[in-house]
Amino acid sequence: MLVEKNVPLQPYNTFRIVARAHSLIRIKDEADVRAVLSDPARAQAPKFVLGGGSNIVLTGDVKSLVLKVEIKGRRLVEETPRAWIVEAGAGENWHDFVTWTLEQGWPGLENLALIPGTVGASPVQNIGAYGVELQDRFESLDAIDLQTGQSYTLDAAQCGFSYRDSVFKHAAPADAAGGLGLGLAGRALITRVRLRLPKPWKPVLGYLDLERKMAESGVSEPTPRQIYDWICEIRRAKLPDPAVIGNAGSFFKNPTVTPEQCADIIAREPKIVHYHLDDGTVKLAAGWLIDACGWKGKSIGQAGVYEKQALVLVNRGGGDQGATGGEVMTLAKAIQTSVYERFGILLEPEPVVV
Ligand code: EPU
Repeated sequence: MLVEKNVPLQPYNTFRIVARAHSLIRIKDEADVRAVLSDPARAQAPKFVLGGGSNIVLTGDVKSLVLKVEIKGRRLVEETPRAWIVEAGAGENWHDFVTWTLEQGWPGLENLALIPGTVGASPVQNIGAYGVELQDRFESLDAIDLQTGQSYTLDAAQCGFSYRDSVFKHAAPADAAGGLGLGLAGRALITRVRLRLPKPWKPVLGYLDLERKMAESGVSEPTPRQIYDWICEIRRAKLPDPAVIGNAGSFFKNPTVTPEQCADIIAREPKIVHYHLDDGTVKLAAGWLIDACGWKGKSIGQAGVYEKQALVLVNRGGGDQGATGGEVMTLAKAIQTSVYERFGILLEPEPVVV
């Protein structure tokens, strides 16, 4: 087991923030996790599980032992009359996995194309886009408990999925104030994820941007590949490519309010973008709220608000001259304050602050 020291983390986070890991171990398979845990000193050490680094803000060097998950492999587990069950190692690139499933003739993930990050990180924040969330396609995952070394499998209910949330984002009982936490944050290392792609395939098209693509192209019954291509075009047009401009996707969650709160805001702000949800609550477009407060294109230091989508914070610098995690968080707090002052809504950040 190779322990790398003083490892630059800039290549391993999509915000391209400069920071170092004091110690880093690459996890290529389950045995590597067991090797870490069988060493008494390392077993006790606080650990940080790093996937594709696409949903984190590094605010300094990481003192915890970084376990960088590089578990590979993808396969069809089972084909039944009702679904294809596919599996990927946690270290597989999410978008490459989506592309591969389509190439194999197993559609169902096309709406989730081009989301940065790894397969192992996808359940952590229950990734979602264009009308599909991971939980809609989720079958089960394998993980290892970093305290006990035990391997286990979780189904969707046990993962506690909700909008951009799961048990993996919540503190474990021992860490939570009052011991009430039910989460697995910092405790689970996800090794493999299985997805259920239902048959017969049905397109998910009810999203405005997709409807526009359909109208423009004149295609009324698109194939999975057609939808995949449209999703890639839509994302490339409004979201920055992390390979070019450092970012972590949407920085805040879209807040939900009661119909009464929404009516109150509409009375003051008639143009507010909102969507009525099935459970009776109303979702507000955080990007619109931030845009309305005049933040689009603004910066604090090298941290900025993306010109084409105000919900995305970006790193305007490159190399060593880029934004620090502190600048990103200062900008995020300033945005939260102005949105709160104008709309009375506290935006909740989506990435994990390390
Ligand atoms: N809007 C503005 N100004 C802006 C940005 C948005 O007025 O600067 C308005 C748009 O006009 C639109 C509405 O806000 O009417 C919603 O914008 P958009 O369709 O871009 O989607 P979003 O709600 O901002 C969410 C997800 C994205 C996902 C898209 C498509 C969250 C936090 N974000 O963005 O996910 O790709 O929908 O499904 O739910 C991510 O999580 O990292 C992510 C990129």
